[in-house]
Amino acid sequence: MSRILLTLLLTALFFFSQYDFSTAQVSQPESYQNGVVTSGDRYASEAGLEILQKGGNAIDAAVAVQFALAVTLPRAGNIGGGGFMVLHTDAGEINTLDFREKAPTRATRNMYLDEDGEFISDKSKVGGLASGVPGTVDGMITALERYGTLALEIVMEPAIRLAEEGYTLTHSHARSLNSAADRLREFDGSKEVFIKTDGSSWKDGDLFIQKDLAETLKRIATMGRRGFYSGLTGRLIVEEMNRVGGIITLRDLRDYKSVWREPIKAEFYDYELYMMPPPSSGGVVMKQVLKMLSDVNIGEYSFNSADYVHRLAEALRRSFADRNYWLGDPDFFDIPLTELLDENYLSDRISDFNPTLASSSDSISHGQVNSVMESNETTHFNVADSYGNVVAVNTTLNGSFGSFVTVTGAGFLLNNEMDDFSAKPGEPNMFGLIGAEANSIEPGKRMLSSMSPTIALKNGNPAFAGGGAGGPRIITAVLQNFLNMALFEMNATQAIAAPRMHHQWLPDRLFVEGLYFSADTVEKLESYGHQVQRIGNIALTHMIMIDENGAMNGASDSRGNGYVAGY
Ligand code: DON
Repeated sequence: MSRILLTLLLTALFFFSQYDFSTAQVSQPESYQNGVVTSGDRYASEAGLEILQKGGNAIDAAVAVQFALAVTLPRAGNIGGGGFMVLHTDAGEINTLDFREKAPTRATRNMYLDEDGEFISDKSKVGGLASGVPGTVDGMITALERYGTLALEIVMEPAIRLAEEGYTLTHSHARSLNSAADRLREFDGSKEVFIKTDGSSWKDGDLFIQKDLAETLKRIATMGRRGFYSGLTGRLIVEEMNRVGGIITLRDLRDYKSVWREPIKAEFYDYELYMMPPPSSGGVVMKQVLKMLSDVNIGEYSFNSADYVHRLAEALRRSFADRNYWLGDPDFFDIPLTELLDENYLSDRISDFNPTLASSSDSISHGQVNSVMESNETTHFNVADSYGNVVAVNTTLNGSFGSFVTVTGAGFLLNNEMDDFSAKPGEPNMFGLIGAEANSIEPGKRMLSSMSPTIALKNGNPAFAGGGAGGPRIITAVLQNFLNMALFEMNATQAIAAPRMHHQWLPDRLFVEGLYFSADTVEKLESYGHQVQRIGNIALTHMIMIDENGAMNGASDSRGNGYVAGY
């Protein structure tokens, strides 16, 4: 490395290690009175804004954003994937919708193991067998029917326009498509949509038109569920399955139903948080960690000091051990939720915390609770309107571009969510997560997720909405965004820009965002026994903050290419 580069790097390190993110005016986010959308893509945020300005509420706008993301953020935004929604209505109702993918009926417990019982990891990530039955379309229609005010055709207009007339690629859109080109080329349906006919690379400024996708979206807009789960689209999905060795049947598609679930509620200082219950692990982990943090007096420590990070890491270590063992699809596995969220149980879990010594993950296991045991690229967006409706949606194909399989003639990618199951006990998935029986593969079962859409109220009014991408790091990043607001009074831009850490029990490693933790903080954490690893970005998040006067601020992670649109 040249001396100049080294000097620049050291200056940056010095600067960030001295930087007080809690008080500095990193930037003052713009305030909106009427509505705001934060998502992973400018066109999608603007689609949401268009619907708000047409008089739609936050739910109408959220559905518009989800469909637009399927067009303009194909690596993550989707109709071939699934996700979770947490919402707060103008009438004060709080609800969560699970539109996570399900294992196809023909899925079997050992479908990703070879004759010797070894895990063939590519099979759960790439190609026909990697996909779960998609939930997004049912989820959006279900949410719109219950809480929306506009017709499906209206809220889908921006997405259909973006697919039919095309949109101009930015550098980031082009780079994303080019980076996956080799894998996408392997599947004819994907090649047809995502690879230029002359085989050259995409460039910023290119117009990207998706005619087949536009037709699929129109079928959904006019026929609702039937426009996706049966009829022509359903048939095209099954034909693709036959072509690439997949197992999703027409019956699987017809039977798919999203589920309204009771939110997980937690209290922390002046806030009430409402989070996603299983099959997402986000709510359980965040509630467990917040309780354990209260027990170790987290409010007394300064932002990202070694002692603060140590407390966070130890609480996360214990909670992820529970997550990996006890959590899965509640419709299939009897999760001891009451016990796992019991205050005494959690105080007991953190009672061996040592302020100057890291525990070893080998010595921490899942907690013993009384239970009868019979028997994982993502994106997030938030919308808030002036009526008090707030929506947080975390949605994914799992890996970037999912299974890389595009349904020929229908123009959309299918997920590779089957990799979020625990394919073999002790075998890490693509996020290094190790699972157990609770998350084993069964027909019709939903795979455990880390997606963490979250809404927090202060004095009964919505104050925070957030979520993100990054596998298990979603949970820790959303938690830190919330803590940055609740403990350190950061504004939305500061809270999201602030450096992050991550711990997930196994591997026994304390990850910190490389440039932004000073050498002495890292040394102190190492002296406590943490195995600290400096890495690049931890998660990509989007958030909204609403103050007591109803002014809305949005922030999208500068670690990605998100966009805030408001008025
Ligand atoms: O549901 C989950 O936890 C994973 N499928 C999320 C994947 C993800 O965040 C990938 N993005 N970086």
